[in-house]
Amino acid sequence: MDKLLIQGGTPLAGEIAISGAKNAALPILCAGLLSSEPLHLSNVPRLRDISTMLRLIEQMGVRVTDEGTHGVSLDSRGLDNPLAPYDMVKTMRASILVLGPLLARHGEARVSLPGGCAIGARPVEQHIRGLQAMGAEIHVEHGYIHAKAGAGGLKGARIVTDMVTVTGTENLMMAAVLAAGETVIENAAREPEVVDLANCLVAMGAQISGAGTDRIRIRGVERLHGATHPIMADRIETGTYLCAAAATGGQVRLTRTSAAYLDAVVDKLLDAGCDIVIERDAITLQAPARLKAVSVRTAPYPAFPTDMQAQFMAINCVAEGSAVIRETIFENRFMHAVELIRLGADIRIDANNAMVTGVEHLQGATVMATDLRASASLVIAGLVAQGETLIERIYHLDRGYEGIEDKLGQLGAHVRRIR
Ligand code: EPU
Repeated sequence: MDKLLIQGGTPLAGEIAISGAKNAALPILCAGLLSSEPLHLSNVPRLRDISTMLRLIEQMGVRVTDEGTHGVSLDSRGLDNPLAPYDMVKTMRASILVLGPLLARHGEARVSLPGGCAIGARPVEQHIRGLQAMGAEIHVEHGYIHAKAGAGGLKGARIVTDMVTVTGTENLMMAAVLAAGETVIENAAREPEVVDLANCLVAMGAQISGAGTDRIRIRGVERLHGATHPIMADRIETGTYLCAAAATGGQVRLTRTSAAYLDAVVDKLLDAGCDIVIERDAITLQAPARLKAVSVRTAPYPAFPTDMQAQFMAINCVAEGSAVIRETIFENRFMHAVELIRLGADIRIDANNAMVTGVEHLQGATVMATDLRASASLVIAGLVAQGETLIERIYHLDRGYEGIEDKLGQLGAHVRRIR
């Protein structure tokens, strides 16, 4: 298993381009299942999760064509195997996103029920309930969700989700685009990735209004056609490099990205004492001599994202003062704390609160990555720590950060992958 060796202590400096958003690309690849005409996508990030999703839809009969560095086209004419097997779902929970599109286009689906996850139980009953409201017959047997749309296909419905769920909203929106009549999703996720998916579906001929608000209306159409769609920039990758620059006392300019979806993160970095210059498609951050501690509380968009919680815990580890990090989305998303403590951080966990008191220096050590964003926090900590940090199990990082050692290298960091 690959490891990452980081020699800490160099302030990041320079410019890098941000990749396409993993969490927008994953549902949009599934949207390709909804039409028999080709979907051409650009700015698709080269990530492990993306290749897993491409393999998954390929074994369903979709023809995937690599169109250069970040281009992919999907041809779902031959879709004949509506199955998401356990072997794939267990490596990537986002595989559940095929359920809605398969039911809508193929009338049936067999998708392995995702098990628990390192960061929380993450059940999918809201996806199932919503599809049942649209008339699907669903039962779980031998670890698989068996879903059938019934003779007349799915029917529009009013769905109120119990909590804000990102992939739940996406699954139901994709199911509704081909359902008969109108579907209204109340308490919908407002995440920018939901909006990017809606934009792609509209380009394919879907009738959707309200994406980006908590009420999404979808009027079902007979069929969708082919389209071309660029994947939005990854706001979490952007935020992660901003934190890395902030923590190391550096100055970076991130291009091919936008601050439009990063208000909560940018505000906290300003509170921490950073200077930030926003251009239309670039962000520049200059770190202060020492960061000030900033408290954060995660909540659905537009509030502070849970996917940036670990990175803010890392920057607070070396900031002046104390901060409270409150996680409200996932019940077990503090696993990076014990690894940060191995690097010399002062963190106390009390249920879903972490009290972090900044120390002058972290010291390099061997640590273990436990999930994607936890790994990102360890990279940030390793970049500021004195001496060498060895991060084990970095396959988690490869799921969500394209070319991380190359990008950090471009910013002057001393990072080496050990194979
Ligand atoms: N939930 C339920 N039942 C459901 C659905 C969700 O109880 O049927 C709960 C979850 O257990 C969680 C909360 O609702 O406590 C919110 O979960 P949500 O469904 O919004 O999460 P998700 O859709 O599975 C996506 C991202 C995650 C990100 C979360 C929250 C993708 C592919 N994944 O997950 O991204 O943390 O939304 O913003 O879009 C990551 O990229 O590292 C990552 C984990």
